[in-house]
Amino acid sequence: MDLKKKEYIDKIKSLAREKNAVIFAHYYTRPEIQEIADFIGDSLALAQQATRVDADILVMCGVHFMGETMKILCPDKKVLIPDMNAGCSLADSCKAEDLKKFIEDQRQALSRNDQRLTTNDQRPIVVSYVNTSADVKALTDVVVTSSNAKKIVDQLPKDAKIIFGPDHNLGSYINSVTGRNMILWNGACHVHSRFSLEALLQLKADNPGVEVLAHPECKAPILAQSDVIGSTQALLQHTIKSPAKRFIIATESGILFEMQRACPDKEFIPVPPEVTEGVGCSCNECEYMRMNTLEKVYACLLNEQPEMIVDKEVAEKAVSSIQRMLSMS
Ligand code: 13P
Ligand code: SF4
Repeated sequence: MDLKKKEYIDKIKSLAREKNAVIFAHYYTRPEIQEIADFIGDSLALAQQATRVDADILVMCGVHFMGETMKILCPDKKVLIPDMNAGCSLADSCKAEDLKKFIEDQRQALSRNDQRLTTNDQRPIVVSYVNTSADVKALTDVVVTSSNAKKIVDQLPKDAKIIFGPDHNLGSYINSVTGRNMILWNGACHVHSRFSLEALLQLKADNPGVEVLAHPECKAPILAQSDVIGSTQALLQHTIKSPAKRFIIATESGILFEMQRACPDKEFIPVPPEVTEGVGCSCNECEYMRMNTLEKVYACLLNEQPEMIVDKEVAEKAVSSIQRMLSMS
């Protein structure tokens, strides 16, 4: 560890103690961020844990929607996010005004077909992935994450018309495992939708019998080649519990740090993305997650900025869809 890094870590730890702050990190953040975090988790675990900690300040090292979700669930706490520009391509693929129109179009189409509608206000049930803005959550009936989507969709009325967004890959996967026919929004994560099927097939051929673990945001052909499909936490748990020593991993590469830390004697082989000419980086890293650096965590704790603020009216509408998720999980 070089001195600069150690200095930052010491300063962050003492500031966090002094200010009664708790540091949260998602598995896709840089290794050094995961090292200083008090709590590391998938989207569901981070949201659940935020409601349980006794702290004045919550520092969310992840992306914008994670900080927003935390603030909505903990309105009396100060929620800091090291970089406000840490967005999410998937969340960005679904703007609230577009979703509002989509819901209305679907409602009208269903009425025209004289189909039985299932919610009181005569509109389909709107299920949104947690990777969405607070404005989208405010239009949503129930939020899901990749670890509870199947469980929650299974609990919805069997004849319900359901709109699922924004991740089309996750929605298709949930349709296939629940036997539902949810109407899907056409959004995607730029990291997960780029894993190369050709490279995966080659890895499987070179490593016969090695299990493939994939996040459900990957495209259907990748999922069809996978043995275990789950949230970051579920994939990590599988590597810990499995007697196998080698795994092929199709998700953002940040998770490899935690897998290797938990299983130092095991080997993890990342699936590379397709290489598309003219398209930014061709690695399996989420550049938004990587915006969290030790320097920014230190600065945000020191200055108590940038602070996550969510419009009160939006938060009041969004909180019920998140609370519903927590109670159905
Ligand atoms: P998890 O809930 O599985 O951690 O996923 C979050 C995410 O952003 C995946 O791209
Ligand atoms: Fe969003 Fe994809 Fe990054 Fe996850 S990996 S935060 S879905 S852009």
